[in-house]
Amino acid sequence: MTSDQRPIGVFDSGIGGLSVLQALQTELPHERFVYLADNAHAPYGEKTDLYVRQRTHAITEHLLAQHQLKALVVACNTATAAAIHELRTRHPQLPLVGVEPALKPAVALSQTGHIGVMATRGTVASDKFARLLDSVRGQAQFTVQACNGLALAIEQSTLPGLAEAAEQRITELLKQYTAAMGAFGKGLGQMDTLVLGCTHYVFVEKPLKALLGSDVQLVSTGEAVARQTRRLLEAAGLLRSDPAPLSAIQRLSLFTTGDLHGLEAAAQRWLDLPQGACHKAPAHV
Ligand code: DGL
Repeated sequence: MTSDQRPIGVFDSGIGGLSVLQALQTELPHERFVYLADNAHAPYGEKTDLYVRQRTHAITEHLLAQHQLKALVVACNTATAAAIHELRTRHPQLPLVGVEPALKPAVALSQTGHIGVMATRGTVASDKFARLLDSVRGQAQFTVQACNGLALAIEQSTLPGLAEAAEQRITELLKQYTAAMGAFGKGLGQMDTLVLGCTHYVFVEKPLKALLGSDVQLVSTGEAVARQTRRLLEAAGLLRSDPAPLSAIQRLSLFTTGDLHGLEAAAQRWLDLPQGACHKAPAHV
């Protein structure tokens, strides 16, 4: 335990990582967080691997230089798949946590042994995901769906003027992708477990549940990532021990490379955050 006041950096291509930030705040109420939403360059899932790696490094360098991080959480499956290995090599001293689709927890939860996975095209096409799938081979059947357009529609659902059309698009895409995957339910051979392999998708849990019914369990990674972050900080002696929890505004600073109003709306909707917590990132990021 320590009184180390340095913040933990968290980033995503956009607002999806706020779902991870929610869990981090609950698990680590004494810690400060700096969140960067790279909205101007979202969605990562439909960009090249090289592009996502370049964005990941630019953001990491910026956060380290500006905010003296004590740890970094890559709250994006696509960026983790593309760049976590390189990040670890470049920053061997930095406690680093990534996210990956929760296939192993899903195997433990599924009764039917058939699991659906929704993720971005970048994640699904990555070597890292292929290795993850390999590691659970034979333990269950997996139906994997790349969901082009879904993260973008979720991004747009917080933007003034675009929200209504984006909500409609989300409904259409969820119907289209879940129908393409096959039958969901508790019956023989049906998918009773759906892994949300993109941090954005946590924010469409409600319409997904309405579509698939209560027999299907949705699995996300925010809580496991938060627990892993705590373990890393503990092991490095960096966990902050001050008894009084910080107020939301002391604890959280959010930055965007894109539209400030969109981030403010998302932070208010999902984290109940006051507007003063959100800022524009410097133009060079
Ligand atoms: N939220 C991200 C993920 O977990 C990326 C979504 C995107 O930008 O395509 O993969």
